[in-house]
Amino acid sequence: MSEPLDDLMQRRAEARLGGGQERIDALHAKGRMTARERIDLLLDPGSFEEFDMFKTHRCTSFGMESKVFPGDGVVTGYGTVEGRLVYVYAQDPTVLGGSLSETIAEKICKVMDLAVKNGAPVIGLNDSGGARIQEGIESLAGYSNIFLRNVMASGVIPQISAIFGPCAGGAVYSPALTDFVAMVKNNSYMFLTGPKVVKSVTHEDVTVEELGGADMHSSRSGVSDYAAESGIDCVQYVKKLLSFLPQNNVETPPIVPTQDPENRRSEGLNTIIPASASIPYDMKEVILETIDNQDFFEIKRDFAPNLIIGFARYSGMVVGIVANQPSHLSGVLDIDSSVKGARFVRFCDCFNIPVVTFVDVPGFLPGTTQEYGGAIRNGAKILYAYAEATIPKITVITRKAYGGAYCVMSSKHLRGDINYAWPCAEIAVMGAKGAVEVLYGRMAKKSDDPAAYLAEKEAEYQEAVANPYVAARRGYVDDIIEPARTRFRIVKALGMLKNKRDTNPMKKHGNIPL
Ligand code: HXC
Repeated sequence: MSEPLDDLMQRRAEARLGGGQERIDALHAKGRMTARERIDLLLDPGSFEEFDMFKTHRCTSFGMESKVFPGDGVVTGYGTVEGRLVYVYAQDPTVLGGSLSETIAEKICKVMDLAVKNGAPVIGLNDSGGARIQEGIESLAGYSNIFLRNVMASGVIPQISAIFGPCAGGAVYSPALTDFVAMVKNNSYMFLTGPKVVKSVTHEDVTVEELGGADMHSSRSGVSDYAAESGIDCVQYVKKLLSFLPQNNVETPPIVPTQDPENRRSEGLNTIIPASASIPYDMKEVILETIDNQDFFEIKRDFAPNLIIGFARYSGMVVGIVANQPSHLSGVLDIDSSVKGARFVRFCDCFNIPVVTFVDVPGFLPGTTQEYGGAIRNGAKILYAYAEATIPKITVITRKAYGGAYCVMSSKHLRGDINYAWPCAEIAVMGAKGAVEVLYGRMAKKSDDPAAYLAEKEAEYQEAVANPYVAARRGYVDDIIEPARTRFRIVKALGMLKNKRDTNPMKKHGNIPL
């Protein structure tokens, strides 16, 4: 081999070691992968093309001239996942804690710009001690340049963040601006300020895990969409997620042929609704019964479980599913579930993914906690999201669709394209018991037997109003369908809506209640 080529090979080998073998060994000893190992696991074998392997920082303050590593703490480039192009960056914790320098930001911005120009997803594998302290403002400028690109890319290409280690301070805002965030349990954390600062400001004693661990963010704050068991699990999650997404906002998701017959009946659905409206059932069973091969990719499973969201396919066509979950809080809509649903519907609308909505909702959750927390402002978000969405929207009311929650859950009035109801559906301003108390409470008190009087009125109300036929007579539901045939009816509707075109009035952008 010629001398220059030897030199190149040696430089490459050196760059591949990041912060050095010792630090790599230390990382492995903690059961963690290096940046390159994470990329290898994500991308198809041999598909990775790297950029800026020799780029180094320019900082000379605080002894930094002697701490120079080729590639400077982030590995960037492009490759394929299941044959489809993606851009990727992986922060390298072996180089100065993965801290973000001006040059690291330049490397990340380069792949983001290419991703937008070429219409392919960008995936960030995060593991960083935050702003490189020695660089000061240059590092902050670098973060800001990344944030700007996150915002410009939003709704143009899918952006996915996987968090494998620390992600603290303002650094958290780049993942927060992306479409999906997955975190690794017991290894990753995200917070604005760490436990020590929390202690000094609010006097709270809190551990890293409690303050910003994967479980907390996946169940309480809703920052994370998935708490992975391991780094490997996290990468698998990202890969599967990608399989449901189009490359960009002018494409549609790939169709995956299936052996699952489109006209497969689900006899169990004919009897899944309990005799009493107050007894719950598991809406996930309805979803699993109707989709291809029971393959449901749930998002935010542990956050606001009273609303289920996720991706699935009907006869190979990708859809976003939104469904009230009667087995948790009776499927009521509250602040968290409204925000969860709104953001998901908006994602689907950005990326041409039809939404199938299963409705069984007793209304919005009442009470001071909700009102003080802004239930009005937050509930308006899901309403807004459904109303502005122009993708195909198919709705199936399985049981209750009461009050404002009826309007919100992809009703005909918010441009629902196909709205079906099961025969036992109850579409009304409120449940029979509540309605009768309002309408006949005073009369009941005057009657000889108030309980019997109210029971009679309740039965009358139920018969007259709380059924799907009133809505069907108005055309607010397009048909009352046999539950066992739900899959077939959805598949047919999706096919019919395949070329749907709808628009909103010209505007700079709407003003969703934030
Ligand atoms: C410069 C850093 C660094 C940083 C770590 N290092 N973080 N260098 N800037 N932010 C360096 C360490 O000095 C050390 O260098 C090497 O990385 C490894 O760090 P260790 O602490 O030995 O490793 P470990 O025990 O694994 O802990 C990693 C860590 C910890 C959890 C990331 O280092 C840490 O807490 N760092 C500070 C985190 C932080 O407060 N960042 C600022 C957040 S505010 P040597 O040479 O000794 O090996 C922020 C604002 C962003 O980011 C605003 C954006 C708008």
